[in-house]
Amino acid sequence: MTSDASAAPTVEPVPVDVVLPLRSAVLRGGGPAGLPGDDDPATVHLAARAADGRVTGVVRLAPAACPWRPHARAPWQLRGMATDPAVRGSGAGRALVEAGLAVVAGRGGDLVWCNARVPAAGFYALMGFTTVTGEFDVPGIGPHVGMLLDLPARAQEALPAFPAP
Ligand SMILES: CC(C)(COP(=O)(O)OP(=O)(O)OC[C@H]1O[C@@H](n2cnc3c(N)ncnc32)[C@H](O)[C@@H]1OP(=O)(O)O)[C@@H](O)C(=O)NCCC(=O)NCCS
Repeated sequence: MTSDASAAPTVEPVPVDVVLPLRSAVLRGGGPAGLPGDDDPATVHLAARAADGRVTGVVRLAPAACPWRPHARAPWQLRGMATDPAVRGSGAGRALVEAGLAVVAGRGGDLVWCNARVPAAGFYALMGFTTVTGEFDVPGIGPHVGMLLDLPARAQEALPAFPAP
């Protein structure tokens, strides 16, 4: 079956078991992909789906203290960001980040941060994140940089409405 990779994906909150296969394939070389906190009630898992229902991208957001803003009021961490290589460049990653920011804003968060793989840092920069650290190594994965985004600076009212899961 073929699908139109250029079509805008739908993004929706999903149970963790929906995100694990793509997270594993893209970020863990097919290995175990569970993360601490995956089952916490406050953790939000989002999946992008193609028109045929196939999961083309995943991300997770969860409340977590920011290492570089220890006194932030309501920080959330973005993790497990991955899109299917077959759809890259067609907007799945952007749709997931925009939906994730809307979820965080809707829950009162004012800061989103992530440990960004260096090859993906340009993507996060396009999404509005700022690099706030030098490069550091995550053993077994590679070089990362710390990045964050202040939601007030993005005008929260401009974010798309997004339902709570
Ligand atoms: C990084 C990743 C999630 C981007 O997903 P994607 O589906 O390609 O993203 P989009 O198609 O929505 O791209 C949005 C914009 O970012 C750009 N972009 C995408 N990946 C980029 C990258 N690695 N560096 C710079 N720009 C990038 C696109 O060209 C596009 O630009 P445009 O709006 O000007 O056209 C995807 O490449 C991926 O899964 N990579 C492997 C896993 C990974 O590194 N995850 C991040 C872990 S921290």
